[in-house]
Amino acid sequence: MDKKFFITTPIYYPSAKPHMGHAYSSIAADVIARFKHIQGYDVRFLTGTDEHGLKIQKAAESDNKNPKDFCDEISETFINLTKTLNLSNTDFIRTTENRHKETVQKLWSVLEKNDQLYLSKYAGWYSVSDEAYYSEDEIDEIEGKKIAKSSGSVVEWMEEESYFFKLSEWEKPLLDFYKNNPNFIKPESRKNEVVSFVSSGLKDLSVSRTTFNWGIPVPNNKKHVMYVWLDALTNYVSSTDYFNNHNGFWPANVHIIGKDILRFHAVYWPAFLLAANLPLPKQIFGHGWILSGEEKMSKSKGNILDPIKLIEEFGSDEIRYYLMKDVIFGLDGKINLENFKTTINDLANNIGNLSNRIFTILQKNYECKIPHVSSNHTVNSSLIIDIKKLIKFMDNYEIHNYVKEIHFYSSAVNKYVNDNEPWNKKTNSDQNIQNILFSSLFALRNIFILLYPIMPKVCEVFLKNMNINKPLLNLVNTDLKKGEQISKPDLLFKKYD
Ligand code: MSP
Repeated sequence: MDKKFFITTPIYYPSAKPHMGHAYSSIAADVIARFKHIQGYDVRFLTGTDEHGLKIQKAAESDNKNPKDFCDEISETFINLTKTLNLSNTDFIRTTENRHKETVQKLWSVLEKNDQLYLSKYAGWYSVSDEAYYSEDEIDEIEGKKIAKSSGSVVEWMEEESYFFKLSEWEKPLLDFYKNNPNFIKPESRKNEVVSFVSSGLKDLSVSRTTFNWGIPVPNNKKHVMYVWLDALTNYVSSTDYFNNHNGFWPANVHIIGKDILRFHAVYWPAFLLAANLPLPKQIFGHGWILSGEEKMSKSKGNILDPIKLIEEFGSDEIRYYLMKDVIFGLDGKINLENFKTTINDLANNIGNLSNRIFTILQKNYECKIPHVSSNHTVNSSLIIDIKKLIKFMDNYEIHNYVKEIHFYSSAVNKYVNDNEPWNKKTNSDQNIQNILFSSLFALRNIFILLYPIMPKVCEVFLKNMNINKPLLNLVNTDLKKGEQISKPDLLFKKYD
C-alpha cells in the first residue's frame, strides 16, 4: 500500500477529565481517518495528551500530586476515551515520553543553529489557562480583572528572562505561504482570521520560562524550560520519529483542531517549521465549538456534558452519528438530548426500517440467501449513489453533508421498495421479486459501507452478516454472490420516546 494519509487531533491537556468538546475533535478526526481507510489509504491517526506547562503544574499542585503522577492518572482517562469513542488511532503520544522530549530538544537545536533564537527578557500578559501571551489590545478589564478578549480567561503580568523565537522574520514568508497554498487553512473564514492577524504584524515570541520547571529543559541552559506550545506542537513530528528512522508520514495531511487553537497551529507551528527547514503540514482544519446553551462547553464554565456517561447510556455509534450529522463541521453547534433522540429515531425509521423490511422478506421466502437476480437485470438509477459527490463532501470536510446524503439515499431506496412492493406476489413474478430484493440489498450494503466511518460498530456487525470483513469503498453489485448465505442483523438502532 503506498497511498499514505496522516491525520491528527489536538493533544489534550490532562488538567481535568475529558468532556464533549474533546470527544468531538476526536470523533471528527476518526471519521475522516476511517473514510480514508475504506478508500484504501495507509492511515496514520495520532492523538494524545499535552502534559507540560504551568497549567498542568498548577492543576497537579492543587490536587497535592507531583505533576507526572497527576498526568499519568488523567492521561489514562484520555486513553480510555479513545476506546469508549471507538477511535481507530494508530498512536497515542504523551509529551512526557522520551521519544517526544528528544524530538523537541533536537528541534530547539536546529532552530538555534539556524540563528532563530535569542536570549532576552519578556514583560507582558500571560494566560495560564490558555498557555498564551496576549498583547495589550487583546486584553479587557472586567470587574477589576484583566482577561483575554478571545477566551475570557484571566491574564497575569509576567516578567522574566526568556529565549525568543524570531517570529517577526516569518511574517512575509507566512503570508506568501498562505497565498500559494490556498487550502492550507480551512474553513475559509478561519483563513481570513489568520491572514489578518499576521498582516497586522508579528512580534518575536517568548519560547522559554524560568519561573517554574514542569517542562522540557532547554539544551545547554537548564534554568529554562520550553514554552509549552513549542513543546506540544512538535508532538506531530515526534510521533513520526522524523529525526531518526522517519516512518514516512511527516508532513501530516491534516491537523484537526478547534478554532480556539488556530493561531498556534496556523501561525506559530508553520513558522517554527519554516525556520527549521522542515516540511509543513498540508492542511489545518479549525472546527467550531460544541455549545451548551450559548456558551462554549468547558470545565471552568461548569457546563460539561460527560461523553462517557452519554455513551454508556446511548452507545458510541449513536453519539458519533448525532454529532456528525447535527453539528455543521466548521461551525459552532448546540447539542441537547431531545435533538439527539429525534436524530436517532429518524435513523431507525429510515435505515433501520429499510434493513428490517428487506431482511424480513429474504428470511421468510429465500432462506436469507442473496437473491438469484436475472443476468439482464440492471439496478434502477435511483439506487446508484453519486460516490464522487460523497468523496467531495469528505475531502472538503463537509461531514454533515456526507451523512445527510446517505440519509437521502436511504430514503430513495425506501421509496424504491414501496413503489416495487417485493412482498406483492400478485403484481410481481418471483424473478421480479428477486431482482427487486437484489437491488435493494445492494443499496443497503452500500449504505452500511458508507456509514462505516461514522458508525463503525453497527456497520461492522451488519457487514459481517453479509460476509464482508473489511469495508472498502468499492460500491459495485458484482461482488454480491447469488445464492450466498447471509444473516438478518438483530435490531440495529434503538428508538427513544
Ligand atoms: N493542549 C492544547 C492543544 C495542543 S495541540 C498541539 C489544548 N488542549 S485542550 O484540551 O484545551 O483542547 C483540545 C481541543 O479540544 C481543542 O481543539 C479545543 O478546541 C477542543 N475543545 C475544547 N472544548 C471544546 C468545545 N466545547 N467544543 C469543541 N471543541 C472544543 O488546547
